[in-house]
Amino acid sequence: MSDTEPRIIVALDYPSEEAAWRLIEQLNADMCRLKIGKEMFTRLGPDFVRRVIGRGFDVFLDLKYHDIPNTVAAACEAAADLGVWMMNVHASGGRRMMESAMERLARHASHPRLIAVTILTSLSQEELTEIGFPGTPEENVLRLAALAHDSGLDGVVCSPREAAPLRQRLGGDFLLVTPGVRPASASLDDQTRVMTPADAISAGSSYLVVGRPITAAPDPLAALQAINAEIADIPI
Ligand code: C5P
Repeated sequence: MSDTEPRIIVALDYPSEEAAWRLIEQLNADMCRLKIGKEMFTRLGPDFVRRVIGRGFDVFLDLKYHDIPNTVAAACEAAADLGVWMMNVHASGGRRMMESAMERLARHASHPRLIAVTILTSLSQEELTEIGFPGTPEENVLRLAALAHDSGLDGVVCSPREAAPLRQRLGGDFLLVTPGVRPASASLDDQTRVMTPADAISAGSSYLVVGRPITAAPDPLAALQAINAEIADIPI
């Protein structure tokens, strides 16, 4: 990471392409990156991703692959062929799945980043036990993040509350990509365990995924600029 690269990834969670473009046209690639997830990808497909990349934006394709190693490696290669900057898999797919994906991407000319989802923050302790994961959510996050690190991945998606222990345990180069970020003045929406952008970066987050505080703001560009200003002086 360099001091000047954008650390905000704006989550494009829109039901229509028109709504997404109304936002994208106000932004530029020096200020932020963009995240395209399952809803927009399923509605609009790879052409939408190509069009966004064609406007000069780095795209995080948030499709959370989880399948047998060969299938996930092939899907990651297809995402790399699209030109995405970052993509993700579920760490619970296991070491061989993550290593196969990394090996395939290492051979790709564009070298996109591959990160892992550890435990979905929506899962309660009871649900985690029900699907056969003993221990607390925090213990599972640390264990799966360490597995992603050992499997050669570039980083993990994590809650800002987990950033400090993960940074301490997994070192300075491992990317920590954190949603659940809210400027002090913003609505919490349905997020519960939030941190401000400055606190999340200070705790060790590499990139912040921010949706509604920007996409639902009366002036999205001003909201993004305010967040960038809040984190500008915090060293990496
Ligand atoms: O609008 P908001 O800032 O809450 O959007 C956050 C984005 O990060 C959404 O795209 C959401 O799906 C994603 N996300 C999250 N919490 C997680 C993982 C992903 O909010 N634990």
